[in-house]
Amino acid sequence: MTIVLRRVTADDWATWRPVRLAALADAPDAFGSRLDDWREAPEHRWRTRLSVPGAIDLLAVDTDSGDGRAIGMASGVPVADAPHRTELISMWVDPGGRRRGVARLLIDAVAAWAAGYGAHELVLSVMPDNRDAREAYARTGFSVADEPGDLLPDGRRELVMRRDLEERP
Ligand SMILES: CC(C)(COP(=O)(O)OP(=O)(O)OC[C@H]1O[C@@H](n2cnc3c(N)ncnc32)[C@H](O)[C@@H]1OP(=O)(O)O)[C@@H](O)C(=O)NCCC(=O)NCCS
Repeated sequence: MTIVLRRVTADDWATWRPVRLAALADAPDAFGSRLDDWREAPEHRWRTRLSVPGAIDLLAVDTDSGDGRAIGMASGVPVADAPHRTELISMWVDPGGRRRGVARLLIDAVAAWAAGYGAHELVLSVMPDNRDAREAYARTGFSVADEPGDLLPDGRRELVMRRDLEERP
């Protein structure tokens, strides 16, 4: 498996769409968005999602697959009112490509991009019972932040994790 990261824009919405729909179908409990809300979404909604000012949207493409299939994705978006924070969202790797470093590649690319724009920390929200993702984030430099995540319908809260982007001595 040879992975190349590709940055996409609104004009790539038709390429990004099936990957995002696959993620929502595969891991419905991992994301705030629902498959049913996006399955029939018109072009302009996809374009809007891929047009967040100051954001980066990446696809991980397996160049060994004949069709150059995208097997993973991640995005970095600025956090409103927190200029030194970037949020990692939409993180997903196809089940067939997991545990081979694809998420690590995506996360490191978003982190490098964010640091290049002056961000000091990369943050994310993860469902408290998403053990695989929590483990992957812990292995890629994130630790649990001392701040409450969003409230979930069942009364629990999302977990906030953060990774320091400042240069270490
Ligand atoms: C979480 C997810 C993105 C990880 O993707 P991945 O490509 O398998 O992760 P990587 O192979 O890059 O792993 C990164 C590190 O985490 C570890 N890791 C990954 N998955 C793990 C798991 N299930 N259990 C324990 N460790 C795990 C890897 O061993 C690796 O550490 P290492 O480099 O020190 O060996 C993937 O499981 C996924 O898409 N899950 C469903 C969607 C989801 O939950 N997204 C997160 C929403 S917040």
